Amino acid sequence: MFNLILFGPPGSGKGTQSEKLIASYGFKHLSTGDILRNEIKNGTALGLEAKNLMDRGQLVPDAVVIGMIRTALEQNPGVNGFLFDGFPRTNAQAEALDALLDEKNTAIDVVLALQVSKKELIKRLLNRGLTSGRTDDVNESVIGSRIEEYERKTAAVADHYKKLDKVVYIPGEGSVDQIFTSLSNEIDTRS
Ligand code: AP5
Repeated sequence: MFNLILFGPPGSGKGTQSEKLIASYGFKHLSTGDILRNEIKNGTALGLEAKNLMDRGQLVPDAVVIGMIRTALEQNPGVNGFLFDGFPRTNAQAEALDALLDEKNTAIDVVLALQVSKKELIKRLLNRGLTSGRTDDVNESVIGSRIEEYERKTAAVADHYKKLDKVVYIPGEGSVDQIFTSLSNEIDTRS
């Protein structure tokens, strides 16, 4: 089993690269953003609570997303490995994930951290907002809040995994294929 975290700020390409990595390696993709948007689409109570925060560019409470990941892990026994996208986003989430994986006698193998300048992140997200229908992409103020949340609460998650010597930084600007090759090289040397 090989478990990886694709890490990086909003707009760094986690979703784009996840699709390619899943197709290539057969990982089970666990994106908390996708799970939350699905809850919103289905009009659940959790979705309503999450929408309010997501529309303002703020994180959803740890207990909610940790519960979602716990359920997803239980629903997917016997997979080759998990690709975590957009999770963990706080140190509490990272500690909970480590404990959940430990219960299953497994662990995170590597954290691949995409590095993209703030200017490029804003450009990509505003551009996607023209067509995506994502309410958190539509204006620069919400995009700014998402990046701030990342800097205040999420960037520290890399330090958690650096202590375990599991973080590799990958330049996240350039063509999608170039970045995919860099990510694949790191996975191939470890799996
Ligand atoms: P989430 O859905 O996780 O969104 P995000 O982290 O803000 O990331 P994005 O999906 O916007 O960007 P990405 O890095 O996946 O890049 P992408 O490939 O899409 O979270 C949304 C919200 O949900 C959060 O704000 C929070 O409220 C809540 N949430 C989710 N998880 C949570 C958690 N664990 N805890 C608490 N709250 C949580 O690419 C972006 C754009 O760039 C696309 O248009 C793409 O085509 C383009 N692009 C990609 N690669 C390139 C490239 N190389 N060159 C040029 N353009 C590119």
